[in-house]
Amino acid sequence: MTKKPKTPHKMETRLVNAGRDPQAHHGFVNPPVYHASTVLYPTAEDQVAHRSRYQYGRRGTPTSEALENALREIEGEACAGVALLPSGLAAISTALLAVAGSGDHILVTDSVYRPTRTFCDGVFKRLGVETTYFDPLIGTDIAKLFKPNTRAVFTEAPGSQSFEMQDIPAIAKVAHHNGALVLMDNTWATPLYFNALDKGVDLSIQAGTKYIGGHSDIMFGCVSANAKTLPALKNTVNSLGLCVGPDDAFLALRGLRTMGVRLAQHYASGLRIARWLAERPEVQRVLHPGLESDPGHALWKRDFTGASGLFSFVLKPMPEKAVYAFMDELALFGMGYSWGGFESLVILFDCSEYRTATQWAPGGPTLRMHIGLEDPDDLIADLERGFAAMKTAG
Ligand SMILES: Cc1ncc(COP(=O)(O)O)c(C=O)c1O
Repeated sequence: MTKKPKTPHKMETRLVNAGRDPQAHHGFVNPPVYHASTVLYPTAEDQVAHRSRYQYGRRGTPTSEALENALREIEGEACAGVALLPSGLAAISTALLAVAGSGDHILVTDSVYRPTRTFCDGVFKRLGVETTYFDPLIGTDIAKLFKPNTRAVFTEAPGSQSFEMQDIPAIAKVAHHNGALVLMDNTWATPLYFNALDKGVDLSIQAGTKYIGGHSDIMFGCVSANAKTLPALKNTVNSLGLCVGPDDAFLALRGLRTMGVRLAQHYASGLRIARWLAERPEVQRVLHPGLESDPGHALWKRDFTGASGLFSFVLKPMPEKAVYAFMDELALFGMGYSWGGFESLVILFDCSEYRTATQWAPGGPTLRMHIGLEDPDDLIADLERGFAAMKTAG
């Protein structure tokens, strides 16, 4: 927005206006999509001095700059800058590369998104970075895991399959006391429901493929940094030559405008269906920190202002074919990875084979659902049909 607000705006208003400057684009509401690599200088003197508002497509265009500015405004006061990356995983690996190198040690939550683990066990190991996984419920006991060379703690709350909550402020306090930085994958809550940088996180990551994009049609990720971490982040992004495609940047910006209303609906419908599932005789346990019965509820209530539409539930022990019959019967839940789009999803998962610091033994087949923007009554009716098919097959 060109005009400065007279009073600080609330989140919904910021989502609508952040990063927009219509008068810089002939009055059009949205910025144009710049497909660009080369930027031409008007004179030889300008070329030699690199005197130009933009230098090169990879280093930023009016489209990517609008998105960067918007994300920064949404993240709030503690945010010094944002880096745009071609995917959520690229945002994770870039943030990690910005904070640790050969001879360093990092701490990573055992509930982390699996490809983050693959990066640590593969690329980071090869580069000489040692990773120790920790119990997501560790709290201040994390102090025992620090070594003189521990540079960073990587958190994710809740874990995007198993949904354990983490005490981020407590972990951040211990990490900072030990001279380490805190990274967080904040894709689940987004800055709308968890203001990570204000809660002690130094680099906050979002897979923009999820709620920012919101329509399952873009690849994008971002990292928000505080003043302490921004120079290293920008340096790493520039050295690796990373940037986001112009159409995806535009669609991410478009997604932001409706992210508030979409998330509110995901939150309400998700919680309603989680409560409904918790009452079903086939269900052993629902893993959703917004439920009063969830072990992470107190932390969620203290630190978060909402929940997204992603949660899991554990079925009572039953034959695989009964679970498959349930999933195959569902007409409104697609079976696919990723989440955060307008459509509902379901997957069957099992983290037991790759956890190392904790055991994953939920006691039954476990499904993860993403509750989309469909009418929750229709979703419940669909799930009822699924449970009927489960009964017939079991
Ligand atoms: C929690 C979490 N973080 C990061 C990612 C990675 O995002 P992307 O698929 O954009 O690389 C995902 C993707 O599913 C995710 O669930």
